[in-house]
Amino acid sequence: MKALVTGGGGFIGSNLALTLEREGYEVLVLDDFSNGDKENLLDFNGEIIPESINLVDLSRFQDVDVLFHCAAITDTTLVDKKLMMQVNVDGSKRLLEFAHANRKKFIYSSSAAVYGDATAPTREDMAGKPKNIYGVSKWEADRMAMKYMKDMHIIGLRYFNVFGPRESHKGKMASMIWQLRLQMLAGKRPRIFKYGEQKRDQVYVKDVVRANILGVQAKKSAIVNVGSGRAITFNRIVEVLNKVLGTSLEPDYFDNPYEDAYQNYTQADLTLAKEILGYSPEWSFEDAVRDYMKEEGVI
Ligand SMILES: NC(=O)c1ccc[n+]([C@@H]2O[C@H](COP(=O)([O-])OP(=O)(O)OC[C@H]3O[C@@H](n4cnc5c(N)ncnc54)[C@H](O)[C@@H]3O)[C@@H](O)[C@H]2O)c1
Repeated sequence: MKALVTGGGGFIGSNLALTLEREGYEVLVLDDFSNGDKENLLDFNGEIIPESINLVDLSRFQDVDVLFHCAAITDTTLVDKKLMMQVNVDGSKRLLEFAHANRKKFIYSSSAAVYGDATAPTREDMAGKPKNIYGVSKWEADRMAMKYMKDMHIIGLRYFNVFGPRESHKGKMASMIWQLRLQMLAGKRPRIFKYGEQKRDQVYVKDVVRANILGVQAKKSAIVNVGSGRAITFNRIVEVLNKVLGTSLEPDYFDNPYEDAYQNYTQADLTLAKEILGYSPEWSFEDAVRDYMKEEGVI
């Protein structure tokens, strides 16, 4: 089986490309490295095409069986609507049309950002009220995918908060686990919003990778949630990091400057993911954090 991974230099894409390769796929990576990092692909043996999804000559992917489309602008604070739409919507459309015309399977990365303030646990039919331009672009891509679903194999994966190896290039956009670990390893008290009881669905990248691969054999086309199905409080993140890193640093609480627009509770309803993909998370939060720190050589 031959696979193309767009955004394969990025966090999720590189973990996916490496796993696919280990599982016997022939893998091509397409990434313009506007955000990804070649270091993520040091162990990758396939071809890396350093071009944009908006411009690359797609005819070179005629012999690919499945497209895993992870490339996107992932800076959720970006306010350049035109750029966000060009990459996340027009770029996705280009790939989707190519997959449709050439009968390729299409597995793509969507986001829980399409839910905005919807009540948790969130079901897939609660989407449509994104709160920022990033979320709008992801929702537009989902709506486009829905139009093609009747006559092609499409799986859209709405990730919640993903964490794990190969995310450090994301800087301020990297996971909370990454940010807090950095502070704690520097001996600083972990800074979290008052009083740490906000809850987020934190999913390990290895579960996200598995959901992508399960998408290849999905029973039918659909857009499904990919999370851990659990809501972890910020205080619990600190507690687990202290345990795994062998530290005992108390949280340093501060006022949340985004209080009004902040999602205090996110959690994926995984019923549809289980039905369509046979997906349920394999990693507990604590085991995932320990595995992550081991992979990065921190413990
Ligand atoms: N990490 C998360 O928590 C999370 C949550 C929800 C959804 N997602 C989605 O998952 C996907 C992967 O995100 P990530 O966290 O790995 O982010 P990332 O920024 O590490 O990866 C995105 C990659 O796409 C590449 N890219 C950007 N524009 C491109 C273009 N025009 N042509 C080719 N490559 C381009 C970047 O260089 C980068 O390597 C994205 O679609 C993102 O929206 C991620």
